[in-house]
Amino acid sequence: MVSTPDLSKLCLFSDWESAASKALSKENFDYVQEAAGDELTSKDNRSDLDRCKIIPRILRGIAGVDTSTSVLGMNLPSPIMLAPVGGQELFDAGGELSVAKASSRLGIPMVVSTVSSYSLESISSQLGNTDGIFQLYMFNDDEFNRSLVERAENSGYKSIIFTVDGPTIGRRPRSIKNGFSNEGHTSGNMFGKNNEKALGKQLKLKCDISWSDVDKLREWTSLPVVLKGIVSPLDATEAMDRGVDGIVVSNHGGRQLDGAISSISALGTINRATKGEITILLDGGIRSGSDILKALCLGADAVLIGRLYVYALSVAGSKGVEKALVDLLSDLQISMLNSGISSVKEADPSYITGPA
Ligand SMILES: Cc1cc2nc3c(=O)[nH]c(=O)nc-3n(C[C@H](O)[C@H](O)[C@H](O)COP(=O)(O)O)c2cc1C
Repeated sequence: MVSTPDLSKLCLFSDWESAASKALSKENFDYVQEAAGDELTSKDNRSDLDRCKIIPRILRGIAGVDTSTSVLGMNLPSPIMLAPVGGQELFDAGGELSVAKASSRLGIPMVVSTVSSYSLESISSQLGNTDGIFQLYMFNDDEFNRSLVERAENSGYKSIIFTVDGPTIGRRPRSIKNGFSNEGHTSGNMFGKNNEKALGKQLKLKCDISWSDVDKLREWTSLPVVLKGIVSPLDATEAMDRGVDGIVVSNHGGRQLDGAISSISALGTINRATKGEITILLDGGIRSGSDILKALCLGADAVLIGRLYVYALSVAGSKGVEKALVDLLSDLQISMLNSGISSVKEADPSYITGPA
């Protein structure tokens, strides 16, 4: 048992990552940090963000910045959301419930995974007045898929994010070598009193998901529908033409297809192709306030963060998540001020140079 470190000393993503590597078993830590194949896409998510540079503007007489924004009908204190991460019991006994408490205290929306350790109902009950979003994986059983969507709607979730980049789980060598399985930690929505029907069914991820599943989902719910895992402008415009409300430009943190384009590199083209007509979220490699600012300038309405909060959860539960998010928000405010950008809507491509 490792004692909790002095949280005031944890300032950077790398500090949380290093503390998490001590707090977690090797198998669990590798499961978070790892990606598919040689982890090239995961590295590119970072290196492409690093090569993308901000061109700050000066002498603008800005005394303070306003990070608030409105996304998918939600009024948010900042353009930051928590990405869906399954099986959070692996990182903290309270798992998603601990994250929801931090999310509730800060008003930062949490996207709850289909494969959460706790049920979507119990997580939403911890969110208070903060908005929650439900992330859907589709299984080979539409009755079950539909029941998940209905449960999410009944529990007050504000949108459905349908993850579309996972027809099958990416091949992740570290977990293969570690003999790792997260089975038993991802069943909050599958079994128990919340879904007796799922018992006894051979649920498998539906590998032949297609646009007709998107149309079906839009019929099942009146909530906004967002597709997560888009990096092609062709798919982004198809989503827009089919009336989808938003997309998450994402390669799943590099965990699905090694060799796929980094999400920050995909963002600019998608933004130009969709002409501001669809909500664009981005995830992959976001670690700091200036990373968020780069994404906003290149066309994202908000970002999702993944590994950062999972590491903070592993180190210090709900308190850790809260500390990491407060620091991230403050870093965003400082980055905006030092760039001469006083509000989220002012961010545009004229502030950016580099490969993205
Ligand atoms: C441990 C772990 C579990 C994840 N589980 C899910 C999931 O259940 N559903 C999903 O859509 N994405 C999942 N993701 C992907 C994240 O939502 C997100 O796309 C990615 O982590 C963003 O990159 P970042 O970690 O560099 O911020 C998971 C990521 C990690 C690290």
